Amino acid sequence: MARVRTLLAMLVVLISVVTGCNSDADNNVEVFTWWSDASEQAGLNALVEVFNRNYPDLTFINGAVAGGAGGTARDVLASRLAAGDPPGTFQVHAGMELADYIEAGQVQDLGGLYAENGWDTVFPRGLLDLLTVDGKIYSVPSNVHRANVVWGNPAVLSRAGIDPQSRPADLDAWFAQLDALKAAGVTPLAIGKDWTQVHLLETVLISRLGSESYKGLFDGETSWADPRITAALADFGRLLSYANTDNQFLDWPASTKRVIDGKAAYTVMGDWAENLFRAEGMQFDVDYVAFPVPGTQGAFDFLADSFTLPANCPNESGAVDWLETVASIEGQQAFNLAKGSIPARSDVSPGDYQPYQQTAMTSYRDDVIVPSLAHGAAAPVRWLADITTAVRAFGTHHDPVALQQALVDAAATHVGNP
Ligand code: BGC
Repeated sequence: MARVRTLLAMLVVLISVVTGCNSDADNNVEVFTWWSDASEQAGLNALVEVFNRNYPDLTFINGAVAGGAGGTARDVLASRLAAGDPPGTFQVHAGMELADYIEAGQVQDLGGLYAENGWDTVFPRGLLDLLTVDGKIYSVPSNVHRANVVWGNPAVLSRAGIDPQSRPADLDAWFAQLDALKAAGVTPLAIGKDWTQVHLLETVLISRLGSESYKGLFDGETSWADPRITAALADFGRLLSYANTDNQFLDWPASTKRVIDGKAAYTVMGDWAENLFRAEGMQFDVDYVAFPVPGTQGAFDFLADSFTLPANCPNESGAVDWLETVASIEGQQAFNLAKGSIPARSDVSPGDYQPYQQTAMTSYRDDVIVPSLAHGAAAPVRWLADITTAVRAFGTHHDPVALQQALVDAAATHVGNP
């Protein structure tokens, strides 16, 4: 037996030498994300710590490509996948964005891994459905974020005579506050580059159309030519008129910082922004406030990040170890506590989370879930790209009729046609 073992060991060494397997590079697991800044980097680092502890023989390779919401990363990823150079695993939003990669055959079915680990029962059904196509499941969720959140600076609001605890019931009530802020010489609203404006637009659409009609925009039930869209686009234009004009130079950390530093009263951003306030030593509901975008109360504008196993990925078993880390209670706790999201698993102890995250968990449990447009849940990648182009152009031509026409044209190209 010992001789057989020795022979086997020699064979393994020989195969390694001939094929190059088991070299240091073969222990690499490249994790491709757009988490390179602020709370995103902190979240990723926390997850990597768990991975390193549990798999000391593997080497985490950070394949992050900077840029909020992942637009730039997705372009780089598309070229790499087209060139047959996939990373070990890549970040993808749950929902229609994932559908693109499934359709192209670029990600593997993880049904076996789910069955082996009992993951079918630890994630909520609604979330699993967003990762599933034709009975096959294609990614492992790490976290859930809420997109329809207004962040405000109470000191700035008070200076303009606005009660920081007041919660505008709808967009019209909010406009009254924004007018008061403008009259007081304060920038009422901080915004950033194009994707943050698509993010703002989706919340205006939810606010003015309601959850059901908003959802209908993405399956053909609601027409983009609807007069309610015309009205919502006028509201969107009005919101932009309250905002900083240097927006195209700012990604989300910089636009959020305007509120933190008291240079603007409000911003609308997903709740990855929350950790940025806390990182400055600010206290929730004292030094900053957060509430649903006016008119979207009762809706949870949803997005989730997840990780895939690309077809033909290098070091597949190492990538599976990463997926298992992402799904584990330990991984979800470490990641979400650091990033400011809420865990995708439903069996993680909620008591450990910050007061703001508690509100997000309650809303996720009780409210109507609507899919985020800017963050891949509602529309496939190419449709979102066309909408983003239209919104960027609006920032220059300020013509709501042209914007609506571009949105109608994009829907005609993409509805039912991922
Ligand atoms: C991602 C978040 C990320 C945010 C800003 C979203 O699309 O889902 O994880 O923090 O973009 O980059």
